[in-house]
Amino acid sequence: MRLTIVGSGYVGLVSGACFADFGHDVTCVDKAEDKIARLNRGEMPIYEPGLDDLVARNVAAGRLTFTQDLAASIKGADAVFIAVGTPSRRGDGHADLSYVHAAAKEIGEQIDGYTVVVTKSTVPVGTGDEVERIIRAANPAAEFGVVSNPEFLREGAAIDDFKRPDRIVIGAEDERATEVMRQVYRPLYLNAAPLLVTRRRTAELIKYAGNAFLATKITFINEIADLCEKVGANVQDVARGIGLDNRIGSKFLHAGPGYGGSCFPKDTLALLKTAQDHEAPQRIVEAVVAVNDNRKRAMGRKIVQAMDGDVRGKTVAVLGLTFKPNTDDMRDSPALAVIQTLQDAGATVVAFDPEGMEQARPLLSDVTYATGAYEAIDGADAVAILTEWDAFRALDLDRVRTLLKSPVLVDLRNIYPPEEVAAKGFRYVSVGR
Ligand code: UDX
Repeated sequence: MRLTIVGSGYVGLVSGACFADFGHDVTCVDKAEDKIARLNRGEMPIYEPGLDDLVARNVAAGRLTFTQDLAASIKGADAVFIAVGTPSRRGDGHADLSYVHAAAKEIGEQIDGYTVVVTKSTVPVGTGDEVERIIRAANPAAEFGVVSNPEFLREGAAIDDFKRPDRIVIGAEDERATEVMRQVYRPLYLNAAPLLVTRRRTAELIKYAGNAFLATKITFINEIADLCEKVGANVQDVARGIGLDNRIGSKFLHAGPGYGGSCFPKDTLALLKTAQDHEAPQRIVEAVVAVNDNRKRAMGRKIVQAMDGDVRGKTVAVLGLTFKPNTDDMRDSPALAVIQTLQDAGATVVAFDPEGMEQARPLLSDVTYATGAYEAIDGADAVAILTEWDAFRALDLDRVRTLLKSPVLVDLRNIYPPEEVAAKGFRYVSVGR
């Protein structure tokens, strides 16, 4: 099949490369000249494990191309995926759909022959109707169907998530479009991935409801962790104890500094806006958003507490800046609020992250960046682990102890066994244990 992906960002690029790997003929389009030039040189604009090899393999096989020429890429395509950004609109938290609408208009102008237009960007309920209207207005004679096909990729595991999904969701209003989508995903559901076909608005809501539920699960266990600290319980054991109940499930019950990233913060806010517009308030999600926001600064205060409540003139070594490991993404990372809180309290921050420092620089001021974990720790008054990168799981604690001015280790990801660290002579503070 011939597939066009409009928008070569995270979702577009991963989806395009994976579709090509399934044998489809894929063109990835982006307006950004430098991005397309870099992709054509084999350089990835994002950090995602395995993506460079996947892209190189499919480019070499002639199944994957990159272009700025949207018009040419639409001609003859069986399906065109809209995978452009939907950032939170400044001021009101609504998803900004201007890129989606602009893409729909351009696609509409170019359609020839029956084409399925697929929204893969995370878009509020009803966006498919609007995309259909825009295409119809741009090209009254066009033969097309508009389908919602949300993605559930996790950064750092995106290729695996795409190739071995828990489910594929297709929201369509007619059988012809559904059939094209069945063909697009044939290699996957032959792999036994369940294919869920719904109406279009339902598919759009599935994505938001899913992300809001996961954000709720994380926030729930984070509050239970706070309670564990007060009553002397262990949140990891509580999580295991409840997670073994199949109705609850063990995933997304790791207590930590709060969720961040490109999806949960933005999608929960957009869901609340949709809920408000339709007068169906989502009070649970409202609470989740508020609790998670407060938590990030609270984690900064937790570090201050661990340093006897006074960090003025002291240095904190921060290990991990990205919102989770195996990504360079700093969007809504808890580290931003944690570091700001430390600085507000008078601390100096030295940071190290294996991939995120370049993205962090414009977002943080007055932070010194180290070239490695031990360099960051050298001479600091405390070390705080904010992201669970593998590189921080096996630190030489004796070396850490000798490099630190005072032996304070704050582990906001619970990656070390408390007894082991305490036995090395540290004051060890973790989350909910
Ligand atoms: C998420 C969804 O998982 C994915 O399905 C959707 O398509 C996009 O949003 P992603 O943002 O890449 O993916 O990361 P994810 O692994 O889900 O983690 C999100 C945040 O939650 C991170 O900040 C992570 O540290 C935090 N988290 C996750 C926890 O604090 N505890 C957990 O148990 C799980």
